[in-house]
Amino acid sequence: MAKPRAVVTRRPPGSALESIESEAAVWLWDENRPIPTDRLVEAIADADGLYCMLTDAVGAGLLQAAPSLRVVSTMAVGVDNIDLAACTARQIPVGHTPDVLNETTADTAFALLMAAARRLGEGRDYVRAGKWDQWEPELLLGHDVNDSTLGIIGLGRVGRAIARRGLGFGMRVLYCGRHRQPAIEADLGVIHRDLNALLSESDHVVVATPLTTETEHLIDAAALARMKPTATLVNISRGGTVDSEALVDALQSGQIAAAALDVTDPEPIPADHPLVGLPNCFIIPHLGSSSRRTREAMADLATANLLAGLRGDRLPACANPEVYGKASPSPPD
Ligand code: GLV
Ligand code: GLV
Repeated sequence: MAKPRAVVTRRPPGSALESIESEAAVWLWDENRPIPTDRLVEAIADADGLYCMLTDAVGAGLLQAAPSLRVVSTMAVGVDNIDLAACTARQIPVGHTPDVLNETTADTAFALLMAAARRLGEGRDYVRAGKWDQWEPELLLGHDVNDSTLGIIGLGRVGRAIARRGLGFGMRVLYCGRHRQPAIEADLGVIHRDLNALLSESDHVVVATPLTTETEHLIDAAALARMKPTATLVNISRGGTVDSEALVDALQSGQIAAAALDVTDPEPIPADHPLVGLPNCFIIPHLGSSSRRTREAMADLATANLLAGLRGDRLPACANPEVYGKASPSPPD
């Protein structure tokens, strides 16, 4: 029997490609940049499976160009680049990579929080600019992480891993989300607040919620105005949860002290964007899950999802389980 055909939109880390090739005939986009849409539309015409990246837009149009498609597998936890409803309507399961990246992404959130609160980017710039010619009692004073209040927007799997880090740093931890989570409140000792209260009480706010129509521009000018002038904002979700223009204004006017972003809008963010030039904005290029071990685990889970879909088995991690005829479980936050 002929092998099923799989389109792979980027060479995955580790040995994932060999595993895919053992069961599928692979068409690989082997360039070091995202595949252009027209090339993907062409390649997918006779594909049974799609192994994609968060940079690929998988919309209704692309699905129409792929009449034989039986599974979509993204090497990411976030599925905002995929039209889930259109996939579900076609009974196409969508695989993603939850859990394997929780701890690594929480590490990134904490690295960003500490970099912004303690002004590490400005410190590095200062040394590199040759300005470090003396010690000064009030040089680049920041705000404490220890003994402060952390507000987590979205207490999902990643949010909970961030909460545990905050508790380890002696922080009081607040959270908000679509649902209260009493069992987790009791287990971890985190405190529920509505969004507005969380914003005004927190010293450090971390956005860890998936991007949906409800969370788009959740952090807008009004939200930023509620934050303390000493506060830090960290975004590790998707760029679209924060209104970039409003953030520029808030950082320039001192409405908040600092921001640190793993994700931006637009993404990639051009070097001449006002956010990039602001000394109190620390930006890294979407590195949330970027340890070697975690990226390989994501590539392997995405492979397991793809191959299960091609075999007609249930995906180990499916973002639209309603294709299996069950009600969708409520989202983690
Ligand atoms: C990264 O942002 C992911 O969604 O895995
Ligand atoms: C949040 O980002 C989650 O993975 O639940």
